[in-house]
Amino acid sequence: MSELSVNHLLGIKYITEDDIQLIFETADHFKEVINRPIKKVPSLRDITIANLFFENSTRTRLSFELAEKRLSADVINFSAASSSVKKGETLIDTVNNILSMKVDMVVMRHPNPGAGVFLSKHIKASIINAGDGAHEHPTQALLDTYSIRERLGEVSGKKVVIVGDILHSRVALSNIFALQKLGAEVKVCGPKTLIPKHIESLGVGYESNLRKALEWCDVANMLRVQNERMDISYFPTTREYTQQYGVNKKLLDSLSKEIVVMHPGPINRGVEITSDVADSSQAIILDQVQNGVAIRMAVLYLLASKINRNIE
Ligand code: CP
Repeated sequence: MSELSVNHLLGIKYITEDDIQLIFETADHFKEVINRPIKKVPSLRDITIANLFFENSTRTRLSFELAEKRLSADVINFSAASSSVKKGETLIDTVNNILSMKVDMVVMRHPNPGAGVFLSKHIKASIINAGDGAHEHPTQALLDTYSIRERLGEVSGKKVVIVGDILHSRVALSNIFALQKLGAEVKVCGPKTLIPKHIESLGVGYESNLRKALEWCDVANMLRVQNERMDISYFPTTREYTQQYGVNKKLLDSLSKEIVVMHPGPINRGVEITSDVADSSQAIILDQVQNGVAIRMAVLYLLASKINRNIE
């Protein structure tokens, strides 16, 4: 297979295992490119990409922009905080105004679930979902599973526990889809109040006890408690949350085997993960960030090659 089955990357739900493997193989190539002294290739030099961020981001936004620049695309950046959205402009009007400047691809982060799907039905450009509310964050799941493959050789057959605020997490849902498509077994762990009621219908197990979850897994993906998406309290205090669901070095050292620790960022040090774990060799947090550039280059390249243009 040499091309993706989709024209947009709206969620892991909509792509196949073959798509994911193609993205990984393409990312392997770009990873080699970005480690060369000259890190730039001309592949997207006739493509214009708009990065539309209606919600805060550090890693995803910088990673996409770097990936686009490494591929020699023309890039424009938009932030809702400093835009005419504040004056009442609709999403479609904002995007159509940007597209009238001849934009080929849109990378969009939006607080509303389904914003990317909605946009893909109304505009001609290729859309990449950079996180839509608590729904999906497909490139995060691709870079997470790519990092597991890099550390453990393969994803198939591995046991992965996702720990923390599953209810408000787009990272959790995209990771569940990606891990299952690649043949991994997935459990979630966290306070029952932060676990979606339908989780078992996704083929995912639930473990309330963190120690048991860590003893079971090969990889623990620690998620941040998303206070900004909560309008009520889901657990008594942060201190109690950390005591039950925070990972620290003493806990990891007491397990019967060494596991891999991941975190999508941003980290709340001392809450879901202590610094002695986050900065240890068991954690692959910065590898995830580094792999994000190669994965995003691969996604951009593969989607751009479906646009009716001559791409080198
Ligand atoms: N992991 C992630 O999406 O981080 P940002 O919110 O900083 O982009």
